[in-house]
Amino acid sequence: MTIEKIQQGDQLTMSKDIVADNIEKLKQLFPEILTEGKIDFKVLKQVLGEEIEEEEEYYRFTWAGKNRARQEAHKPSTGTLRPCKEESVDWDSTKNLYIEGDNLEVLKLLQKSYAKKVKMIYIDPPYNTGKDFVYKDNYKDNLGNYLELTGQTDSEGNKLTTNTESDGRYHSNWLNMMYPRLILARNLLKEDGVIFISLDDNEIENLKKIGNEIFGEDNFVANIIWQKKFARANDATYFSTMHDNIVCFAKQSINSNKNSGWKLNLLPRTLDDAKGYSNPDNDPRGVWTSVVLSAKSGSDKLKYKIISPSGRESYPPDGRFWSVSEEKLQSLIDDNRIWFGRNGDGTPRLKTFYSEVQSGLRPNTIWFHEEVGHNQEGRQEVKSLFDGKGYFDGPKPVRLIDQILKITNSENDFLVMDFFSGSGTTAHAVMQLNLEDGGKRRHIQVQLPEATDEKSEAYIAGYKTISQIGKDRIRRAAQKILEENPEKAKGIDLGFKVFKLDQSNINAWDGERDNLEQHLFNSTESIKEDRTQEDVLYEILLKYGLDLSLPIEEKIIAGAKVFNVGFGAIFICLEDKITKQVAQGIGEWKQELNPETCRVIFKDSGFTIVEKTNSLHTLRTFGINEVRSI
Ligand SMILES: C[S@@+](CC[C@H](N)C(=O)[O-])C[C@H]1O[C@@H](n2cnc3c(N)ncnc32)[C@H](O)[C@@H]1O
Repeated sequence: MTIEKIQQGDQLTMSKDIVADNIEKLKQLFPEILTEGKIDFKVLKQVLGEEIEEEEEYYRFTWAGKNRARQEAHKPSTGTLRPCKEESVDWDSTKNLYIEGDNLEVLKLLQKSYAKKVKMIYIDPPYNTGKDFVYKDNYKDNLGNYLELTGQTDSEGNKLTTNTESDGRYHSNWLNMMYPRLILARNLLKEDGVIFISLDDNEIENLKKIGNEIFGEDNFVANIIWQKKFARANDATYFSTMHDNIVCFAKQSINSNKNSGWKLNLLPRTLDDAKGYSNPDNDPRGVWTSVVLSAKSGSDKLKYKIISPSGRESYPPDGRFWSVSEEKLQSLIDDNRIWFGRNGDGTPRLKTFYSEVQSGLRPNTIWFHEEVGHNQEGRQEVKSLFDGKGYFDGPKPVRLIDQILKITNSENDFLVMDFFSGSGTTAHAVMQLNLEDGGKRRHIQVQLPEATDEKSEAYIAGYKTISQIGKDRIRRAAQKILEENPEKAKGIDLGFKVFKLDQSNINAWDGERDNLEQHLFNSTESIKEDRTQEDVLYEILLKYGLDLSLPIEEKIIAGAKVFNVGFGAIFICLEDKITKQVAQGIGEWKQELNPETCRVIFKDSGFTIVEKTNSLHTLRTFGINEVRSI
């Protein structure tokens, strides 16, 4: 038995290879299309028969760069997410994540660990107003480009620029940014998951079209109009714009004939919709309204005489019948459900109690500001957390996201993601709603460390990037929740683990010819010098598709630090001196936990040949056969 070494470029060191995954799916469906490991397109065409579009002119939506953008979504990332405990809150217990980085790379890195795990995604991407910044992917080296743009490498002066209308590729640039991200986002959604996307009129039709393509036309649910303003702008050229759109697609809707699709949760009823209900007889079941007790159809048996408490006799109106039998009527009278008017001499009517009608309200496609807040409210909320300072432009109001969370699901323990998280409103809304209903919703925020303007209040106060503002907003919102509800907030997860996008921790083995000798020397030390054991640990979690919030225990065994991930699912030791005693300790720990499957990962250069062989032998005696080195 030997230990298989994980190297750069391996399946394992790259994020999920989506092309390979697609081929695998096709292979499962049509094994005959594969010849010598490659797809025979002619055979695939035959298999699909008439369903292939071969005409030159057909209905489609395209733009400059679409193919490359699609390919980009299918290319794995060579980056990693490095943990940053110093900036995190409640590192050991929280299940929430705050990831700093370009969301394209981050979405790629999360493909394995969070595939089909996210119930709801809310995003509020740049609207492409001509003044906002639209991230430009660099297909050759997206990660290098990111590090350069965000000032994390030595190169000078590269500024993040706005996408202006004078740019000949104005809409294409925006579409090229959105398209691969939405493809990757869809993979993360659960089969009964749903995505909500905020936009204004600048790109709404384009979003709708790529949304139809990526999620399927059948899965379009609604375009919600949100009244973001309440004061008319009389200086507008034509109309005073009062609304934004929130486009909603389900991963699978119930329209698509699949019962497993997203089912909307009704909104809680409010006292407002109890209008028309009253309680003139002080019924302990609360307010009620009444409906007629007669129906158009029935039998002669339903034409009986009803005598009111005052002694007045009633029959159904001409051509109608009582809607209940005589026996049923008696039981309704006994239960005080028949109303004969205040004086007891009216025509009998059936009482319907507010507390007993449909449990909730179906949301409308127009959301007014009274119901879900407006732009100013969002601004005010952030300001109030930062001592009255407006550090962030255009945050959404918490009530807006709260409504989206409420209609997402009746169960309150799902995973929510926002990968254009800005000031962190989604995280705030999740914490707030969990506080209100004792829910266990978890959130993942992704935000670019976009530089703040040097002249802005935020920059002067020390917030050099938007992600710094976002993290601090979540910390401050959590603090406020805790101060205002010391008892109730006790069981609520108000923390988050911070991760930052960076180059992989593992040295590249890319066959570079220039400095081969040095390269070969480096390659014996596969882990980059400036990286910690924890950096590598989380890279391994991503590669194996494990949740970044899994519990991780640490133990010193024979002088070496060993991590136990997910109660014995993986043991990892990245020390420089690994001995057979370490393997023995891992074996005993595994025996104690008795996991279903168990893997062990060591640092390759941490062994001598003899120790390696002995350690393998020891692990085998404990039934551990999957051992890898890095
Ligand atoms: C309109 S704001 C979101 C505001 C947010 N909904 C709130 O309530 O605070 C859009 C955010 O997306 C961020 N962003 C733009 N491109 C990004 C990218 N490629 N990766 C991650 N974040 C990005 C911007 O920095 C900006 O903060």
